[in-house]
Amino acid sequence: MSAATEKFLQSADLGAAIVAALDEVLGTRKTDLHAPVFAGNEWVYLKDCLDSTFVSSVGAYVDRFERDLAEFTGSAHAVAVVNGTAALHVALLLAGVEQGDEVLVPALTFAATANAVSYCGAIPHFIDSDDRTLGVDPAALDRWLSFKAEKTGGRIVNRDTGRVIRAIVTMHTFGHPCDMDGLLSVARKYGLTIVEDAAESLGSYYQGRHTGTFGLLGTLSFNGNKTLTTGGGGAILTNDAELARRAKFITTTAKRPHKWEYVHDEVGFNYRMPNLNAALGCAQLEQLPGFLQSKRALHQKYAKAFAGLDAVELTREPAGCSSNYWLQALKLQNIDMQLRDSILEQTNAAGYMTRPVWKLMHGLRQFGDCPRAPLDVAERLEKTLINIPSGAGLA
Ligand SMILES: Cc1ncc(COP(=O)(O)O)c(C=O)c1O
Repeated sequence: MSAATEKFLQSADLGAAIVAALDEVLGTRKTDLHAPVFAGNEWVYLKDCLDSTFVSSVGAYVDRFERDLAEFTGSAHAVAVVNGTAALHVALLLAGVEQGDEVLVPALTFAATANAVSYCGAIPHFIDSDDRTLGVDPAALDRWLSFKAEKTGGRIVNRDTGRVIRAIVTMHTFGHPCDMDGLLSVARKYGLTIVEDAAESLGSYYQGRHTGTFGLLGTLSFNGNKTLTTGGGGAILTNDAELARRAKFITTTAKRPHKWEYVHDEVGFNYRMPNLNAALGCAQLEQLPGFLQSKRALHQKYAKAFAGLDAVELTREPAGCSSNYWLQALKLQNIDMQLRDSILEQTNAAGYMTRPVWKLMHGLRQFGDCPRAPLDVAERLEKTLINIPSGAGLA
């Protein structure tokens, strides 16, 4: 048998073995990556919302959703907005990111993280991931900054570009929390602000504390594919009352309260979450503990089904953390793009929606010229991670 044939057979076998494991756990061969579940008060609250005529960005459900989110996450304040990208855009502005600054961003993330930096006129500066958490690696970041960054006039400047490095955006990949102690310590050492992109990690905890509450600000997404959905939606979390007030103000077109006058005293954004979406969110939040239990149960079933397959590893929550298991992922032990693609081909053909992880940000044309650290771990993860069906309705 030629080496090429043997390689093909191996890949066919592994793909077939993964399909068999998915069959064992899921059974039905028509499964989305992450379908939402609407099994609570969604219809009641939406009808109530329509009956009230308050369908836009003012309404009782918006206020309630913000209160409920703050309570669930333990954040002092939550400000509901139209999506997670808008939340990140505003959070970066409130963290002081200015035109021409650099912001440290994981290369392994969804494009929205880097896009939001660009919306501020700033430049994403890509950093590497930790193979264990899939989030930013604090030790690698510290090494990189120790020779790339210098303190000038109380600010941290990139020695190569001369630009101010203003902040770090951490992202809790697939719901698995980053090493927040390590990242907070690097941030303190260099005087950098942390903004947490917790779009994927509602219901995930690092050492018992909810993700998105460690940085100056954190952001959530409630897109249709997330653990909890409002259709489209997002939120800004912060423990700082003044930042929360500013977040609400600039996402409401910077309109000063007045009985009838339209007074807008700065350029604001029309980013507030509509009441209709918040009504959906209130109903979903009531079911969140159940969703989290189901997703953990699904992980346990997958762990059993994939236990005998040495060529793949099921990603799991880091020690000391509780993950929401937003997206379950298989990590191939070896880099083999042909094998990866044949697995994607076979699983999708069998009716199981599987996807590779995102292309790394510096590989996208629009971010190709941005500064970057060595990205060895992220580059390996890019080639070896495959997401498998993960919705709360599957367990
Ligand atoms: C890491 C990350 N950041 C930001 C976003 C943006 O959220 P949205 O789609 O709600 O704008 C998403 C998901 O969509 C995401 O996965």
